[in-house]
Amino acid sequence: MRTLIKNGTVVTASDTFVADVWIEGGRIVALTHPAGRERAGSPTREIDATGQYIIPGGIDAHTHLDMPFGGTNSVDDFESGTVAAAHGGTTTIIDFAIQKKGGTLTEALDTWHAKAEGKAAIDYGFHMIATDVPPNQLEEMAKIVREGVTSFKLFMAYPGVLLLDDQSIFRAMLRAGEIGALICMHAEHGLPIDVLVQRALAEGHTAPVWHALSRPEVAEATGTERAIALAEMAKVPVYIVHLSAQRALERVMEARDRGLPAYAETCPQYLFCSEDDLRGKPEGEGEGEFEGAKFVCTPPLRPKHHQEHLWRGLRNHDLQVVSTDHCPFCMKGQKELGRGDFSKIPNGMPGIETRLHLLWEAVRERKISMNRFVEITSTAPAKIFGLYPRKGNICIGADADVVVWDPEKRFELSHKNLHMRADYAAFEGKTVIGAPSHVFSRGELIVEHDKFLSRPGRGHFLRRGTFSL
Ligand code: URP
Ligand code: ZN
Ligand code: ZN
Repeated sequence: MRTLIKNGTVVTASDTFVADVWIEGGRIVALTHPAGRERAGSPTREIDATGQYIIPGGIDAHTHLDMPFGGTNSVDDFESGTVAAAHGGTTTIIDFAIQKKGGTLTEALDTWHAKAEGKAAIDYGFHMIATDVPPNQLEEMAKIVREGVTSFKLFMAYPGVLLLDDQSIFRAMLRAGEIGALICMHAEHGLPIDVLVQRALAEGHTAPVWHALSRPEVAEATGTERAIALAEMAKVPVYIVHLSAQRALERVMEARDRGLPAYAETCPQYLFCSEDDLRGKPEGEGEGEFEGAKFVCTPPLRPKHHQEHLWRGLRNHDLQVVSTDHCPFCMKGQKELGRGDFSKIPNGMPGIETRLHLLWEAVRERKISMNRFVEITSTAPAKIFGLYPRKGNICIGADADVVVWDPEKRFELSHKNLHMRADYAAFEGKTVIGAPSHVFSRGELIVEHDKFLSRPGRGHFLRRGTFSL
């Protein structure tokens, strides 16, 4: 099969140019000028991309599919989650395997391979969440890296569940530096947060908005500062996940200004939603204040003014990536576990399908350029997480993970149009302009005009390279 995508405009992180894109054997084999089309040979399949952009498939570097959390499991598994991702123009995910406390990293990796194999419809890699770092586990970290899992997420939050003490974090960082792995940090100061949560509950504050009120911005700022300080002492790079707020961003900016290899991602929920969403609806409308449970994620949604700082961070390259932290739970049977106690609401929001749609809004509003859109959704995560240049670019030799993006297509981000399994949509009722018309994964046309053409299980596990920026 030799596919030609013709008459489109290629957009990469650095360039915008008119070109025909030729795909063969799962790869991009040529970029040619339309004037020379006759000489370039004959295709077996042609896609006319007139008026459309040709961009590298999205890479979502932060997803939680089929993840046990808060006494339940995130509701999208590797089948529904990756099919939904594909519909939204994402062709690669990096999900999180979780070490059981007292268990090994290898056991965790085996468990997550079993969850993904035969189900994933797009390519996938794994980060490893280490919940325990005894000295004798340091050798196992190297083994995991050799298997292509080259980043470790550590938690400063969730005491008794995921939180690691500073000594363990520091040991893991030193080891990561030796083996070329990247430490991804959930940077919230978890112990005082827990006290605030208990105090709020004791005072009778049970509504979802208290999730935000008991996890103040300063707890994230100090966590971020501590993560960066530990990484500086260990002389290793650090990547702050799901950064939500101005002061945490300022800590990253200061570090970068000092020349430290500090990186950070934010997520659409922090760019487009706010603490107001956590307040729910007036009594009598929907679930009333409990509607806010739909928006409980960690770190929490912040007051609206934080958004402009995050956008500036993205424009100025102080934030490198937008990933989703897709961690979906249904209201019925899952979020409702926290009715009467906000601390029992499973943390996380659906988003794997709508990231590109939402960020294209920012392109339309001239908050970011088209090239920056490509960079933060695909090229930068490919580079940071050892997938470049196989993924993250439209260039000869790259995997043909290609999205034909129709900038005029109207799409309603409503539950009835989406493929994620959560029983609600965070942006219900919002219509965006700009959506994928065709999505290719390794040269296979997997979505055409919102129709899924492929099959679960076709996704490959990606052995990622070590950190090399
Ligand atoms: O609310 C969130 N973010 N759920 C997933 C777990 C995490 O900390 O990323
Ligand atoms: Zn986290
Ligand atoms: Zn997460």
